[in-house]
Amino acid sequence: MENFVYEYPTKVYFGKGAAGRHLPGILAGCGPHVLLAYGGGSIRKNGVYDEITGILKAAGKTVAEFSGIMANPTWAKVQEGAKLARDCKADLVLAVGGGSVIDCCKIVCAQAVAGEDLWDLEMVQHKAPSAAPIPLGAVVTASGTGAEMNGGAVITNENVKIKGGMFAAAPRFAILDPEYTLSLPRMQVLSGAFDTLSHAMETYFGRSDRDNVSDEVALAVMRSTVVNMRALLKDLNDYTARSNLMWTSAMAENGILKVGRVTDFECHQMEHQLGAYTDCNHGQGLAVLHPVYYRHIVKDAPEKFAKLGQAVFGVDSAGAAVEALADFIRECGLPTKLTELRSRVEITPELLRQVADSTNLLPNGPRQLTHDEVYEILKECL
Ligand code: NZQ
Ligand code: ZN
Repeated sequence: MENFVYEYPTKVYFGKGAAGRHLPGILAGCGPHVLLAYGGGSIRKNGVYDEITGILKAAGKTVAEFSGIMANPTWAKVQEGAKLARDCKADLVLAVGGGSVIDCCKIVCAQAVAGEDLWDLEMVQHKAPSAAPIPLGAVVTASGTGAEMNGGAVITNENVKIKGGMFAAAPRFAILDPEYTLSLPRMQVLSGAFDTLSHAMETYFGRSDRDNVSDEVALAVMRSTVVNMRALLKDLNDYTARSNLMWTSAMAENGILKVGRVTDFECHQMEHQLGAYTDCNHGQGLAVLHPVYYRHIVKDAPEKFAKLGQAVFGVDSAGAAVEALADFIRECGLPTKLTELRSRVEITPELLRQVADSTNLLPNGPRQLTHDEVYEILKECL
């Protein structure tokens, strides 16, 4: 095992009716001003907005709203939220949504109290913010990213065309009610769950020592994610599968799989830059990239690929593991080519060259890629 320090910053309230049962008690311990943050309006259609605002009102809170947080949140949106948080003197920011809303609010909470521009501080100067952020709570309505149980946030700075990972406020509490996810469109359910599978695989393919317990836990999270995704292919509203996936999502990104090991996450680096240029859906971008990336690196970690193949897909060789993953992506109806992704621009080889050249190259996977190889991978995804 590598040396580590492990601590959970987030208290989780899981299950049907969790908001009604637990939020009043949590709010009793917070100050009077709440900034309620959400996305493009799904919570107004599915009743979650009414339920949460009812609880806030009953608790006597003064509520300001920060709405319209887009999928793949931008740095400009963070600035808008930080101003609102300052203006309403927020004692708590309550993020109600998926990874995008939660991530945006993590940085809002820190930027609102910071004396400097946090993009410059973190991404250019590589320093951490010093002021304590405004407390953050998360009510999860779309699972998959695991954003609710960590302090990382993925933000797109449109000026410099970088979708980058920042670190700020981890939620102090997270409400995970699987019923809140039932209104998600089918493709978002599956792409979110594929993101979870990707997190577990990206962690597993980082270098680890022999018989590492975190590898075993990662394989279990992968297997459970695949089994429960298959259950949803039969019945999209299967509550048991939804609830299992809501927890595998948190498990994959709450740090437990990363204990005592380094991680890969090169596929995420490629996808994030693809997102910076195209605004594509995160889980769908990963679905396109993963098999192609793995065909490039399978010879660099044959034993690990074979072990994954056996544990997750019941196949017995490294190559078969990669093809079983590709088959599973097709079985789910997830995209398999870049041209199938929703993109705000045409995806051309020239654009992919820019994506490749701006992709972070990480050192801890089976083999470190070059920008040219990233370009080859991206072109093979066309
Ligand atoms: O905006 P609204 O109207 O709410 O619609 C959203 C959005 O269009 C919709 N949605 C959410 N809950 C719903 C719902 N629609 C109906 N019913 C509900 N209950 O779903 C759409 C996608 O939401 P989004 O939050 O963007 O999805 P996701 O949770 O997949 O988050 C993706 C973002 O998280 C980042 C990604 O890069 C991307 O920016 N990630 C964050 C991570 C982290 N902090 O740990 C790790 C991940 O690797 C990832 O990079
Ligand atoms: Zn992800």
